[in-house]
Amino acid sequence: MHIDIITCLPRLIESPFSDSILKRAQAKGLVTVNIIDLRQYATSKHKSTDDYAFGGGAGMVMMIEPIDNCITDLKNQRTYDDIIYMSPDGERLNQSLANQLSLKNNLIMLCGHYKGVDERVREHLITREISIGDYVLSGGELAAAVVADAVVRLIPGVLSDETSALSDSFQDDLIAPPVYTRPAEYKGWKVPDVLLSGHQANIEKWRMDESIARTKARRPELLD
Ligand code: ADE
Repeated sequence: MHIDIITCLPRLIESPFSDSILKRAQAKGLVTVNIIDLRQYATSKHKSTDDYAFGGGAGMVMMIEPIDNCITDLKNQRTYDDIIYMSPDGERLNQSLANQLSLKNNLIMLCGHYKGVDERVREHLITREISIGDYVLSGGELAAAVVADAVVRLIPGVLSDETSALSDSFQDDLIAPPVYTRPAEYKGWKVPDVLLSGHQANIEKWRMDESIARTKARRPELLD
């Protein structure tokens, strides 16, 4: 998979890709992530990427021209499955959307700032909009990092077997069961006996029962 992230604040998004699973996925050659400074595509003397809103009002608007120049340049290099605008009014990210995106080859993520982008970007240049939840962030960068993380960990080979994404919460519309590690007893707090029994069938049944009970208690709507 190849992901291009367009931002006017590249430093804000560099670190999530320089550590842990996202870093390893790149090192293994399973994903390439290219962070693009939108300012490189600005045409004005001051390299502005935003301007005042027509009609007045507080807040700057990201201009269409640098964004169009950037997307056109990228599209000349490869064909994209989706050009995504990160926006609080987009389709809400969930595990099913992450699964869908993990099957794509080439993605662009455009990070908005200020009051957002000129509406013509959304009308003509973007193929889908994604929100990570009903709250407003200062920009799309953190949201793009969240989407990239949720998607890249699903690419076969990114996770090792013992951290397989198949046992994640939400993967089967259930919350993951509790997990424990040594010591088997700490300050009198014990690990459930079944997990120490070595009886794999009982352990699997316990995990499934716990998953269902947890989902009922915490997120009953997932069982509908
Ligand atoms: N940009 C600002 N807020 C956002 C959100 N909640 N999701 C995605 N992009 C955003």
